[in-house]
Amino acid sequence: MKNISIFISGRGSNLKSILDKWKSGYFKCSIPFILSSNDKAYGVIIAKKFWIDVQIIDPKLEKSKDEFEHKIIDLLKKHNIDLIVLAGFMVVLSKNFFKNYKGDIINIHPSLLPAFPGLNSQKRAYEYGVKVSGCTVHYVTEEIDGGPIIIQDAVVCKDSDSVDTLTSRILRKEHTILPKAIKLILEGKIVRDGRRILINE
Ligand code: GRF
Repeated sequence: MKNISIFISGRGSNLKSILDKWKSGYFKCSIPFILSSNDKAYGVIIAKKFWIDVQIIDPKLEKSKDEFEHKIIDLLKKHNIDLIVLAGFMVVLSKNFFKNYKGDIINIHPSLLPAFPGLNSQKRAYEYGVKVSGCTVHYVTEEIDGGPIIIQDAVVCKDSDSVDTLTSRILRKEHTILPKAIKLILEGKIVRDGRRILINE
């Protein structure tokens, strides 16, 4: 059985959708620990409700980024983690991290990449006036929000939308595509063709 870990920094609604699906048997793996970069994150409470060990490593409390990442790498090695899922993890991983961890890393992003990478994507998409937005699960590479795309789902932007209503419709889609991507990866259904990700369902 593969081992996965989920990294969070905040509210943890994506974490909850992953754990609900995991509990229901939608995909099979072990989750030896969840990592939070913030001890006040609501996601920490969610993880504990599922009786999963939570490791808190706060970059602000570490001597350096190197030290912070070193601690994470130690945990990943100790638990043989095959897949890291970034679900609202607000820390950018360095080159060094990618050198030291060779498993897969995926991320959920609240826009149709490559549009609106970075922070506040929903607000920027709304203010830009796009008619369709959505969310993306992608592999994480050194380029922020620039790795190969695994799944996307679109949301139609309505004239009556506010940033909040658009954001919450996008979030509902996030809660479906992130567990789906995890399932596809765990079941070996992903084929890489350069940048293109093909799905063998
Ligand atoms: C989500 O919108 C996700 O797309 C982005 O950060 C947010 C995390 O929300 N990367 P939550 O903590 O999962 O509720």
